[in-house]
Amino acid sequence: MKGIILHGGHGTRLLPLTHTGPKQLLPIANKPMSQYALEDLRNVGIHDIAIVIGDIYPEKVKEYYSDGKQFGVNITYIYQEKPKGISHAIRLCKEFVGDDKFIVYLGDNVLRKSLTDYTKKFSSSGLDAMILLCEVDNPSKFGVAYIDKEDSMKIKSIIEKPKNPTSNLAVIGVYFLTPKIFDIIDDLKPSSRGELEITDALQLLMDKGNKITYDTVTGWWKDTGTPEDIIHANRLVLDSIGTDEQFLAEKDVSIKGNIIIGNNTDVSHGSSIIGPAIIGKNCKIGRNVRLGPYVSIGDNCTLENCNIENSIIMQNCKIDAKEVNLSSSIISHNSQIDGGTISKKSQLLLGERTHLKL
Ligand code: DAU
Repeated sequence: MKGIILHGGHGTRLLPLTHTGPKQLLPIANKPMSQYALEDLRNVGIHDIAIVIGDIYPEKVKEYYSDGKQFGVNITYIYQEKPKGISHAIRLCKEFVGDDKFIVYLGDNVLRKSLTDYTKKFSSSGLDAMILLCEVDNPSKFGVAYIDKEDSMKIKSIIEKPKNPTSNLAVIGVYFLTPKIFDIIDDLKPSSRGELEITDALQLLMDKGNKITYDTVTGWWKDTGTPEDIIHANRLVLDSIGTDEQFLAEKDVSIKGNIIIGNNTDVSHGSSIIGPAIIGKNCKIGRNVRLGPYVSIGDNCTLENCNIENSIIMQNCKIDAKEVNLSSSIISHNSQIDGGTISKKSQLLLGERTHLKL
């Protein structure tokens, strides 16, 4: 089997975080979100992976993943000039896929459970497609599947973001497909939002009498479309981290809960960290710092006099003001906060290289 990760798209719902890079490279628990997709594919034995890159800083994606060797895979980059839809992006991969079955993973989806069982089921079947469904509270934000009342394994229809959905089963962004989908996509017309929709391709595949089934996702699944979603995904991933016993033994630091700390990171006495939390390497956690729970701090950060919970601070940031209280915040790479005071717990969303002088 082969794998495809979609790394293009608009990124507009995540501004200002996506001014300087594609959303799929935004870190969740200190790892770009699309790396979770790549590792899920690699962990089911898929080593040939195409990454579809778009027009938002595609060179940053290439720079990070390179030829894939250091992640244990071979990467082919496929360029999508404009975000003309998920089906359009898949169609660009026809030559890469050849005659193989394949999995398409949306680079902004994060999934708790491994793909092992689903992949086994699909690869040994004669199915033309398999989708994964997850019960959600807000189905009108997703592609939605309607299941046949008489035959619970049969999908009746799949509709993109229905206005008044009567099913709460969202189609998640991991699709098990065969090359049959390419001819189907060739017959698609753009939707009202001007895109070739994956849901329309799946519907047409069914309408033409092909075999398609579904499985349901257990554990959590997250589509990280908004900053709130990213912070939520960060919490979900941090909930499953372990703890760095060796660091705790060596450093004599006041820490509660699970926490991972990178090499060469220093935590001063008088600071406290409440897990789950992750701190990258080469950080200086200085005086009067209270971190956590649910905080991710990237590499090379310096923090002083701050109280941060439920937030993501990316690499190379410096917070060194009189007093800073942050909650549900995302501070992008190379940003700096200094000067006076943010005395009440506040939410900040800062794009890359912001300098906030209080
Ligand atoms: O997350 C699951 C949902 O993803 C499904 O339930 C929907 O049926 C499906 O259409 C999709 O909906 P979104 O509106 O969330 O799709 P979005 O535009 O955010 O794109 C999903 C990913 O695919 C994202 O990583 C960007 C990438 N993409 C998207 C388009 C439109 C591309 O690489 N190229 C594109 O042309």
